[in-house]
Amino acid sequence: MSHEVTTHPVPEAFASQANLTPEKYREMYSASIDDPEAFWGEHGKRIKWMTPYTKVKDVSWNRDDLHVRWFSDGTLNVTESCLDRHLETRADKPAIIWEGDDPEDSHTLTYRQMYHAVCRFSNVLKEMGVKKGDRVTIYMPMIVEAAMAMLACARIGAVHSVVFGGFSPEALAGRITDCESKFVITADEGVRGGRIVPLKVNCDKACDLANGMVEKVLVVRRTGNDVDMKAGRDLWLHEIGADVADTCPPEPMNAEDPLFILYTSGSTGKPKGVLHTCGGYLVWASMTHEYVFDLKEDDVFWCSADVGWVTGHTYIVYGPLANGATSVMFEGVPTYPSASRFWEACDKHGVTIFYTAPTAIRALMREGDEPVKSTDRSSLRLLGTVGEPINPEAWEWYFKVVGEERCPIVDTWWQTETGGTMIVPLPGTSEMKPGAGSHPFFGVQPKLVDAEGHELRGATEGNLIITDSWPGQMRTVYGDHQRFIETYFSAYPGNYFTGDGCRRDEDGFYWITGRVDDVINVSGHRMGTAEVESALVSHDAVAEAAVVGYPHDIKGQGIYAYVTTVAEVEPSDELKSELVRHVRSEIGPIASPDLIQFSSGLPKTRSGKIMRRILRKIAEDSFDNLGDTSTLAEPEVVEQLIEGRQNRK
Ligand code: WTA
Repeated sequence: MSHEVTTHPVPEAFASQANLTPEKYREMYSASIDDPEAFWGEHGKRIKWMTPYTKVKDVSWNRDDLHVRWFSDGTLNVTESCLDRHLETRADKPAIIWEGDDPEDSHTLTYRQMYHAVCRFSNVLKEMGVKKGDRVTIYMPMIVEAAMAMLACARIGAVHSVVFGGFSPEALAGRITDCESKFVITADEGVRGGRIVPLKVNCDKACDLANGMVEKVLVVRRTGNDVDMKAGRDLWLHEIGADVADTCPPEPMNAEDPLFILYTSGSTGKPKGVLHTCGGYLVWASMTHEYVFDLKEDDVFWCSADVGWVTGHTYIVYGPLANGATSVMFEGVPTYPSASRFWEACDKHGVTIFYTAPTAIRALMREGDEPVKSTDRSSLRLLGTVGEPINPEAWEWYFKVVGEERCPIVDTWWQTETGGTMIVPLPGTSEMKPGAGSHPFFGVQPKLVDAEGHELRGATEGNLIITDSWPGQMRTVYGDHQRFIETYFSAYPGNYFTGDGCRRDEDGFYWITGRVDDVINVSGHRMGTAEVESALVSHDAVAEAAVVGYPHDIKGQGIYAYVTTVAEVEPSDELKSELVRHVRSEIGPIASPDLIQFSSGLPKTRSGKIMRRILRKIAEDSFDNLGDTSTLAEPEVVEQLIEGRQNRK
């Protein structure tokens, strides 16, 4: 990424109405670092507690006694903050505006309607036998029932695990069994970009693969097409929900009781179940949502993510609803039925704040300015991005063409593990540098270190660590606390390692440079290269596979797979297509390799370790700069790979 960017001042009209000023930010940030107890003791009150906390922070990042607890003697139910407490002043305010895949299809739910719908849903879950502490897997399209299902779990104290609707039956089954989820909530089918997604069919396959683990499946009717219903196991929401009560008492939860599990990819092994708890997560979700997006009472906030990702959890459901905001939920895709879709929907609903991923911006930028300029967009006042680094060119286009230089851009760096935004240009607090994450949110203490853990000071580049806890931090890997410790606290003992590289410039702005581990970021979706590799080698024709990321114009990173076939099988174009199909069915379409290169061998050290550094360079086409190859067992493999890369179509 080029370091030469044009700095933009905060647009004046925005600055004059912003919730924060540069001084206010500095003051609050210092307070949050100097005295976290006092700062969070105060800000923790922004959500509704049943029993107020007297303890604020109880954290040890010491490996022998690693625990993270916030507000740990308080009790609450997060749905009281998200629903009940708004009934007095916001009962008729839109809570969720749903925009369907078909532009003709939309509807609005007020806070009162949402409250009753969630209560009914909670009673349905109870009738199904769901109890406090049970894990419930949610495999849904982007319909309001997905948000209701999450909140209904929270209301009765069950722990939701949302699995993105684009994942395959195999991936879904793995996530069901990992957290021993006896209950699944799904829909008959999903609709995206005019195409049908066979969710119930996938769910049935997953239940088979999960070997009797799943006892009940609740099915929401979306398309109304015929699906098989298994007697004794499958229930229709509209049937069992027909005569349940529309109130349901909120289950008292300890602040540190689990709220949800969300699976995410790491550099090794199968996806980890990131666990978030009730109190700290909700404080973080609501506080970041308010300050990062300069929230005002009348805003219409649209986060275009899917609820299957953390961005959807925090900024479609929990953050906006805790703040009594109006949240837009979109079923479709940015380019259907045309490349104007986002902007037309912004006009239709009067969206004031719009939050999306750089990959969507790049894809739309390619379609030219016309699909944007043909829309009004005058309601927009703030734009955001998340999920991957944004290149300055895409940033400038978003700023100039979409936001007409009126809307600041908040480029929010964070992770599933962090619960909410961490490094972000808080709007109105400083000039904007395209592509820079900029400054830490309240309570966040970033540091840059070298591979040995020495702190790097001043303008420099290194690995990004966080030196102290914040309320939204994940608490553990579900069912595997040791893995939590190993993954995040072993590289730099006493600190949280993010897995990201980062640069700090002369003005103290932070620039996230991307993952430094074996995780790649494809269209803003996080993907473990090890997962794609194990999907590939599970195919009979494959002897060995190595997967790396390479620069991709739209996706940010594409998936590049080096594959060695077993002796009996000749590489062919048919086999390539077959392998792509195989990975799609093992993981899902988001994991499809973009490029497959067959090779007779892979570069390895004499001890047999694949040298990914070299594979990455070859995939990037930077052959002159392969670094030290002297430790290779068979240096000639590299020549062959380069030749293969250059000759590929
Ligand atoms: C990357 C998504 C640069 C980063 C919320 C991180 C970003 C990973 C940004 C987490 C950003 C996210 N700029 N990189 N604004 N936001 N990332 O868990 O590599 O799906 O570690 O959470 O995405 O992805 P995850």
